[in-house]
Amino acid sequence: MILENDFSFFDWEYLQLEKPTDIYVKKLSNMKEQFIDNSVVLKILSSADLVLYKVEKFEPEKGKGNLIFSVTSLYPGTVGREYFFTQGHYHQNDFAEIYICLKGKGLLLLKDKNNEQVYNFEKGSISHINSNFAHRVVNIGDEMLKFISVYNVDAGFDYEKVIKEGGFSTKIVKSENSKSYKIETL
Ligand code: 6PG
Ligand code: NI
Repeated sequence: MILENDFSFFDWEYLQLEKPTDIYVKKLSNMKEQFIDNSVVLKILSSADLVLYKVEKFEPEKGKGNLIFSVTSLYPGTVGREYFFTQGHYHQNDFAEIYICLKGKGLLLLKDKNNEQVYNFEKGSISHINSNFAHRVVNIGDEMLKFISVYNVDAGFDYEKVIKEGGFSTKIVKSENSKSYKIETL
């Protein structure tokens, strides 16, 4: 049977879903503990909150091995010296995920309990993210970074496991002359 809910429309000009089934934003206030410099975070929040990224989803019904299509729009910017990033998570269940970068210049951080790796992630990059790795995207460019993800509806998000492991120890910050980025490890 063909289900109406199984169809959607992606606008390639504006790089957005026409009728997302869900849409949410994550703000600095939702990710306070993730940034290196807490005093900078508090200073920013004392005057205004910042939207770091927006996620739009095309999500069919749960189960049956169904997939989700989502588009993340990660703003350019820094908190102190540190570039904006997505929070990052493990999947609760053993499902991989595909990331496709549509626009912008970024880095993809992958971590497991013992290791972290950094990969270029920019317009055209496709990454198959193995189910064992927590994943985070950092926007190191000066425009919006947009990427598509496709993953199983039952993958689930485990943010706690990342926190329990002490978070991502790889930090992406502006270089001294502010012209590029550098990688610092805590
Ligand atoms: C995934 C999602 C992706 C992600 C957002 C926000 O990685 O499983 O497909 O849409 O949820 O990019 O990242 P956080 O979930 O880490 O906040
Ligand atoms: Ni994921």
